[in-house]
Amino acid sequence: MTLHCEQTSFTHLADRFGTPLYVYSKAALTEAFHAYTDAFDKLEPLVCYAVKANGNLSILKHFASLGSGFDIVSGGELVRVLAAGGDAGKTIFSGVGKSEAEIEFALNAGVLCFNVESLPELDRIQAVAGRLGKTAPVSLRINPDVDAKTHPYISTGLKSNKFGIAYADALDAYRYAAGLGRLKIVGIDCHIGSQLTDLSPLVEACERTLKLVDTLAAEGIVLEHIDLGGGVGIVYDDEEVPDLPSYAHAVAELMGGRKLKLVLEPGRSLVGNAGTLLTRVEFVKQGEEKNFVIVDAAMNDLMRPALYGAFHRIEAVESKDIAPFTADVVGPICETGDFLAKERVLACEAGDLLAVRSAGAYSSSMASNYNARNRAAEVLVDGSEVKLIRQRETIEQQLANETACL
Ligand code: LLP
Repeated sequence: MTLHCEQTSFTHLADRFGTPLYVYSKAALTEAFHAYTDAFDKLEPLVCYAVKANGNLSILKHFASLGSGFDIVSGGELVRVLAAGGDAGKTIFSGVGKSEAEIEFALNAGVLCFNVESLPELDRIQAVAGRLGKTAPVSLRINPDVDAKTHPYISTGLKSNKFGIAYADALDAYRYAAGLGRLKIVGIDCHIGSQLTDLSPLVEACERTLKLVDTLAAEGIVLEHIDLGGGVGIVYDDEEVPDLPSYAHAVAELMGGRKLKLVLEPGRSLVGNAGTLLTRVEFVKQGEEKNFVIVDAAMNDLMRPALYGAFHRIEAVESKDIAPFTADVVGPICETGDFLAKERVLACEAGDLLAVRSAGAYSSSMASNYNARNRAAEVLVDGSEVKLIRQRETIEQQLANETACL
């Protein structure tokens, strides 16, 4: 048996494009997007795909064609969205440290709003808008102080995190924003973390944010939208993840009859399980205590295992009649943290292809050139059609910005 992406065999893809190779299924991207729009259909949400999960232009273009908006965290991501034909008017600019140049660029492009995370940021946006003679649409990111129960590096909604404006300070922050003449207050925003496997913190954050919406309305600050931040977690292994219809139902109940537009910023759940990282086994090495399957992908291609101890399922692309053995799957990079998986049972030998699953999100977008490795190619599969959507980087491209001077 050979593993496929839609109607295309991984073996064929590896032969044609080489490895390591990120492979994305167009049908899976579409299905994941529609899972949100279907589940939330009564609320007619604006789904703003979080570009950081995977900013490949073809992926952005595909989501734009499905009607998606975008959640960006840098000027570079805005350039990507615009280059892919995305609508600035459906784009939300998040992040704690927007520079003046980024704010100016986004204001000129006409983004839907800035999700503002501090008072100094409000001042900065006011100043840039004043200089440009524009009014800036703003939404305040409130930290609801809810424990998302996820990995500490990707939990963002606690008091101890750098994100958002403290819940207790929210009202004053809105009053302050209302006094700045170049700002138009349009919304409220929260985001409590990523890879959420429990629905209750999401619902609690929504509830707490809506409470603020009502308090603000009583003060005459009437908001147009509520943005509930990122999406639900995905299945990497055997975790139970929140059911979108249940999430949508809970949000609809809480929203009641309020005239508020709903905005969502899912990233991982739109792309994560649409992607696979294909890698070839270089050697099988029997160490003193452990076996190692040494592959041609490494932590620079997929740093989630090294960074978060994340689990990615790994399967042999061709099933073979070899005795299975337990091994760590590691890359060629010179550090012990360079592993894709630990203690997996695999039946493979040198030259075989492995499929590293759930590699659509935070994989190619977090890739680096560590060890002077070229970043991998990416392909998009549509049935039996394949498009190369990112060429494999070359060493000349890596060296192009450097000079060997004394
Ligand atoms: N909105 C904001 C403001 C965010 O910070 C994030 C993710 C999202 C939306 C999208 O969240 P999602 O739907 O993907 O859960 N590199 C880590 C994930 C970092 C997520 C950061 N923020 C990983 O590989 O697990």
